Amino acid sequence: MSGQAAQAAAKKACGETGRGMNLRQLIAGNWKMNGLAADLAELEALKRGLAMAPACDVLVCPPASLLARAAEAAKGAFALGGQDCHAEARGAFTGDISAEMLKDAGASAVIVGHSERRQFHGERDQDVAAKARAAWRAGLMAIICIGETEAERDAGNAHPVCGGQIGGSVPKDATAANTAIAYEPVWAIGTGRTPSEADVVAMHAHIRRCVVERLGPIGRDVRILYGGSVKPSNARAILSLDDVNGALVGGASLKARDFLEIVGAGMPH
Ligand code: PGA
Repeated sequence: MSGQAAQAAAKKACGETGRGMNLRQLIAGNWKMNGLAADLAELEALKRGLAMAPACDVLVCPPASLLARAAEAAKGAFALGGQDCHAEARGAFTGDISAEMLKDAGASAVIVGHSERRQFHGERDQDVAAKARAAWRAGLMAIICIGETEAERDAGNAHPVCGGQIGGSVPKDATAANTAIAYEPVWAIGTGRTPSEADVVAMHAHIRRCVVERLGPIGRDVRILYGGSVKPSNARAILSLDDVNGALVGGASLKARDFLEIVGAGMPH
């Protein structure tokens, strides 16, 4: 399907499912296991760059070790999030961090089910759903990640794989206020490769349908972010696609200059 044909198909799907195209976009940065105290300067620079209120919501997820200090830097300019949380609020779970702890340190959101957690820590859909519930319990928004591997895409299974992940990872009582979904094709993360625009549009329309099927009409207002090799040079094109309600940005979120360019490409809707 051409980009235009895919957009037309998605518009039709959105016309059927509702408002997915008119949501304020969220640009979220995922620092992953990067960032020392010296890198807080990037957050100061980000704050200066955001002095003129951006057209979209801005969130940075630094490593937990920097969260409290990042909260000082971020004050009033952008929101902060964690990159993972344990399902329990407290207890004998050495090395883990709870959603309550993230909230206490200044977070208002947390990424759950990132493919690096699924891949390197064996997280399954039901673990991700439990973490999303933990996020809500603590008053955090959950950014629930889904996405197919290259082998799954090559086998023609990208849509059913992502549909299955939504069924397993997104609790049925999710709301547009407490949940965003990040579609991150695993093969696009950190590789510089991205799906075609037509593939992004088709997948986001599919995700929208699955979310509305699962949550009912409120699923129309749940933001669906795209993630995987988003950078200044492709952000505008990706963020202008139908039903792309923001981006989850890894590598390009580490430098304020790059991240600000991506934020600048975000839309108010
Ligand atoms: P990337 O990572 O932007 O470096 O590809 C995205 C992510 O994993 O969230």
